[in-house]
Amino acid sequence: MKKILLITTVCTFLIACASCGKDEPLPKPPVDNPAVTQSTEEAETASAETQTENVPGETSAPSEAAQPDETTEEAQDAPDATQAAASDGQTAQTAAAPVATKAPASQTPSKSQEATRAQETTRAPEATKAPAQNDFYAPPPPVYDIPGLTYITDPNTGVKILLASKSYSMPADFAPGLEDVTLEYFNKMQSDAAAQGLYLQLSSGYRSYYDQQIVYGGYVYDVGSDVADTFSARPGYSEHQTGLVIDLNSIDDSFGYTPEAAWVAEHAHEYGFIIRYPDGMEGITGYKYEPWHIRYVGSEVATEIYNRQTCLETYLGLPNSEYSGAYTG
Ligand code: DAL
Ligand code: ZN
Repeated sequence: MKKILLITTVCTFLIACASCGKDEPLPKPPVDNPAVTQSTEEAETASAETQTENVPGETSAPSEAAQPDETTEEAQDAPDATQAAASDGQTAQTAAAPVATKAPASQTPSKSQEATRAQETTRAPEATKAPAQNDFYAPPPPVYDIPGLTYITDPNTGVKILLASKSYSMPADFAPGLEDVTLEYFNKMQSDAAAQGLYLQLSSGYRSYYDQQIVYGGYVYDVGSDVADTFSARPGYSEHQTGLVIDLNSIDDSFGYTPEAAWVAEHAHEYGFIIRYPDGMEGITGYKYEPWHIRYVGSEVATEIYNRQTCLETYLGLPNSEYSGAYTG
């Protein structure tokens, strides 16, 4: 009887223990398990990165905020850009419309932005020194006997130079078009630059009095005449009306950072051109730095000015370029 009682007791105990084991919750992984935590963080990080990349407006997805005039980095970094661009109120060689209209979006900040940047300047990277590539002579530009035009004879070369600045205007009916010499020697320069792997484009050349009226008027409307006067000429005062000027490439401050700008700064004189509005001479020329605006004066004068690293006004002993009065429309 004792045996039966003992066996019954042992069996009851074993059954109870088996039952307890089944009810035991499954062990959980340690909360601070390094592997689990790291994995979680990586997943979260990856998720966050993915999310960031997909945030509209932060990517390449077009949005209003990314409109050229508003927020594109290129636009903001392109000083002068629009204005610059603007500055010259461009008439692209391929598109005859006055600059006032359209320009490449990525490099065309709003005119007001341009104006804000009007004081900003850029410097071309140091040019690769190279021997003169040409052995030709770029002749002096043509001279017209037309009332209202002002010429000055350069005492060093005897060349007669047509003056067009804030101090010297031209009559509205003076409309020579782009001069043959301007185009001929630009073409030579373009060809020699291309041989160096550099690309030069004629982006704006001749602009009539009326073209300039539209261009300048647009800037006055946008930013007012005081600001417009720092980068755009009033009708009758633009060198583009002389037919002796070419604006290169982007026509904005970004051009100043290109190897093309560096090459032009070192070689344009060989083809008869000068950088008309050099950096740091705004108070003399009347306009902010325009590395893209080249003026044809012929080899001799251009070389004299290049050797002196100066501007036309200083070279000729002229007073600072200034308007005699406010713009009256
Ligand atoms: N950007 C130059 C000054 C012009 O308008 O002729
Ligand atoms: Zn220009």
